[in-house]
Amino acid sequence: MSHAGTCLAHPNIALAKYWGKRSYGHNLPAVPSLSVTLAGMSTRTRVLFDSGLDGDTLILNGRVAQGRPLSRAIDLLDRVRRIAGISDKAHVRSDNDFPTASGLASSASAFAALAGAAWSAAGLPWDAPRLSDLARQISVSSARSLWGGFVELPRGEPDTHELPARQLADEHHWDLRIVVAVTVEGEKATSSTEGMEHTVKTSPYFSAWTELAPRLFGEIRDALLERDLERMGAALEQSSLAMHASAMAARPGVVYFAPGTLAALQQVLELRKRGVPAYATMDAGPHVKVVTTQAYEDEVVQAMQATPLVLRTIRTQPGPGAALIAEANE
Ligand code: DP6
Repeated sequence: MSHAGTCLAHPNIALAKYWGKRSYGHNLPAVPSLSVTLAGMSTRTRVLFDSGLDGDTLILNGRVAQGRPLSRAIDLLDRVRRIAGISDKAHVRSDNDFPTASGLASSASAFAALAGAAWSAAGLPWDAPRLSDLARQISVSSARSLWGGFVELPRGEPDTHELPARQLADEHHWDLRIVVAVTVEGEKATSSTEGMEHTVKTSPYFSAWTELAPRLFGEIRDALLERDLERMGAALEQSSLAMHASAMAARPGVVYFAPGTLAALQQVLELRKRGVPAYATMDAGPHVKVVTTQAYEDEVVQAMQATPLVLRTIRTQPGPGAALIAEANE
């Protein structure tokens, strides 16, 4: 017997950053976060549970995956098998339609799509909060990719057992544009998981970060609901820079910035001096994501492309949540 499910999910970018886990297990975030799910880029994942298989296999962008990507996928599959009461091994095929090294969080869309596909292949009915909680247990940011538009994820508390994200506003709430300035080609050196673990353990600034982050989250949330870009922009830029400051103060420092990151940041400040609403956010990598409005998107793209050390730009905007794809389309 075999059962398959296919799910499509999109990456997200945090406006209020998650950085650091609670010490008491279950992969709980130490701070609340808020993200925007992106249109135009997606991960498509198909899971086939088959009683004839000897073990779980994962084909990632056409290649057999081993190591951490495989063990994280098996972790998620095991959780689904326990919930569904099945023991079949799975064949998983996952493809991104955007480059893995584009500086966009491919793990967020990957685990959201895997959760949806495995859940469906196991015969379980679609349940976004449960899928979000499931994806969160493997990779926190993926919990937010279950929904489209603007999505929040609270921090974990000592008595938290389930922690799903939830949608604050859908993708039509605000026609923001996000311009990604790619500054380095290739994979990042330190994964988010390793970088934040090291920050929690050794950075004297981590406690300052956990104190500040909820305040910034509240400010970003309020400004987003009011569509106040000036206020949201100031807070989202501080969220990213404070996250990086906590990482840089670790021992040894976790530095994700490259020379092009600073050049792009400088350009964003110049744009603002000229009256362009443009605000920068950086994740666990060297690329700069610039949040602006539709009216200023072309100007931002031109300025970023003219910046020395910026290799290329990618245009994105708020997009939809994860969804199943009918097997008949396979
Ligand atoms: C900087 O979700 O990749 O992108 O939970 O260990 O898998 P794990 O980490 P991950 O971290 C994302 C960190 C970030 C900020 C964010 O997306 O909120």
